[in-house]
Amino acid sequence: MSKNIEGTVKDMSIHTAKIAKKVTVSTLSKMKGVEPITMVTAYDALFAKLFDGEVEMILVGDSLNMSFLGKEDTLSATMDQMIYHTQAVCNGATLPLIVLDMPFGSYRTPEIALANATRAYQETDAQAVKIEGGKDRAFIVELLTQNSIAVLGHIGLMPQFVRSTGGYKIRGKDQADIDRLVEDALALEKAGAFAIVVEGVKQEASQAITQAISIPTIGIGAGNSTDGQVLVWSDMFGFFESFKPKFVKQYMDGATQIREGLSMYRDEVKGREFPSEEFSY
Ligand code: KIV
Repeated sequence: MSKNIEGTVKDMSIHTAKIAKKVTVSTLSKMKGVEPITMVTAYDALFAKLFDGEVEMILVGDSLNMSFLGKEDTLSATMDQMIYHTQAVCNGATLPLIVLDMPFGSYRTPEIALANATRAYQETDAQAVKIEGGKDRAFIVELLTQNSIAVLGHIGLMPQFVRSTGGYKIRGKDQADIDRLVEDALALEKAGAFAIVVEGVKQEASQAITQAISIPTIGIGAGNSTDGQVLVWSDMFGFFESFKPKFVKQYMDGATQIREGLSMYRDEVKGREFPSEEFSY
């Protein structure tokens, strides 16, 4: 038994609590060390509505470029696309803290970063933006936070660097790299990030990062020591079939269920069973 953020005692082995109040940056900071934070991605109003009240955070991730646009990587996502999808998610979900993922190139200079992050706030109801990069990008995080824009950091394996670094590489495999990651996290915390996504790192590294900083860490492929977890919804529900990383647990087999439903529909149409009287005027 342990205490959750509302101060009520609950059995953490059985998840019963739904989120009843709008989640803010301050809700999340109070959760560190108290209750694990849940985050999933969403790209449209339909699914955002299903996730509303179930998780503390929704990330409108640039992963939509792969899972929804069918591209090889996330790099061709644009600010216009991220704004469009974030507007849709904000139309569907009211309770989670919604984060717009800043796409590749949208924060390459401080001026461009501030202009695009300002657009994110002006054209959507997102409460924060996410930026990939450690201490080399901390000056951009600082500029945004000084301009009252909440920033979620992202360190470790950074998908926007996949072309320039030659692939998706797990980080934190030796002490020197763990030290670099901890330095990155400390720099982002100092720059004002309210939380940090830690992706694709060894468990030992995510533990060291989580202990070194006072803001929450949200892990993906980073083991169980982080302050929260995030998964891409089309991975966790078994819709994305191009590849399945080791860290993805599938909570349902969405692709099989869709195919079964579609094949029933096709058979019924071909057999003139659908639409029956019940579905006709
Ligand atoms: O784009 C995305 O979905 C992400 C998550 C993998 C954290 O950045």
